[in-house]
Amino acid sequence: MPASLIDGKAIGAAIRAEIKERTAQFTQRTGIVPCLAAVLVGEDPASRVYVRNKGKACVEAGMLSRQIDLPASTPEEELLDLVVQLNADESVHGILVQLPLPDQIEESKVIEAISPEKDVDGFHPVSAGRLLTGQAGFVPCTPYGILKLLDYEKVDLKGKHAVVVGRSNIVGKPVALLLLARHATVTLCHSRTQDLPGVVRSADVVVAAVGRAEMVRGSWIRPGAVVIDVGINRLPDGRLVGDVAFEEARAVAGKITPVPGGVGPMTITMLLHNTLEAALLQAERSRS
Ligand code: GUN
Repeated sequence: MPASLIDGKAIGAAIRAEIKERTAQFTQRTGIVPCLAAVLVGEDPASRVYVRNKGKACVEAGMLSRQIDLPASTPEEELLDLVVQLNADESVHGILVQLPLPDQIEESKVIEAISPEKDVDGFHPVSAGRLLTGQAGFVPCTPYGILKLLDYEKVDLKGKHAVVVGRSNIVGKPVALLLLARHATVTLCHSRTQDLPGVVRSADVVVAAVGRAEMVRGSWIRPGAVVIDVGINRLPDGRLVGDVAFEEARAVAGKITPVPGGVGPMTITMLLHNTLEAALLQAERSRS
């Protein structure tokens, strides 16, 4: 029997409906409308689409969206000044600077300039440290979305072997920490891992986040395993594929996320979640 599909579009829509409801209640109670400021530097077409979709999703959830477009030639100082302004702006609750940034701008400097209270991407070292040490804080949206998918699918993680392929700060490392916090035994693999197929074969849960089209083959998947595919890769023939060879893996896995329609819709969903949380926290803090 082929794997059942994990429908990120449907799960994301269900969570967004809850967020919309909670946002309406919050606004009714406080008069505050949660606001996300998204900064886009340059003309990268993919980034432009992502930022536009984030803004649209905010409005659909009853939140405000402010998009600030800057030219690709923007000096680092100017972007840092903008972040300082947004930090001080009480009508802005979440700040997101779309990555990647042009070469003249050091990403880590910009991320560190964002107030941790408004760090809805969860990329600030304070947020990363809180996740590492198990304290409450903003969790990066894609890893958080993956955890929600596993929760909705009632995947039991306790004592299970979770293998994460890819060690980025945005996905691989934080998802490994989230799985660990749920008592999984976690192996974090990367391009230099020896016998990667063998390691993946021992996994109850596989998270593929390497950014290489169809790298994880069906023969690497243990029968019945849960497969989460974070990849979005465009093939020369125009097809959109994940980091997992979908049809091969589907034939052996127990559950699998499709691309598109799996992890993708969850990222923006959790951004909305974080933006509402930011507004709630800031409202609480300004009352006390
Ligand atoms: N670039 C790719 N993914 C992301 C993301 O989640 N947030 C930001 N700010 N930039 C990204």
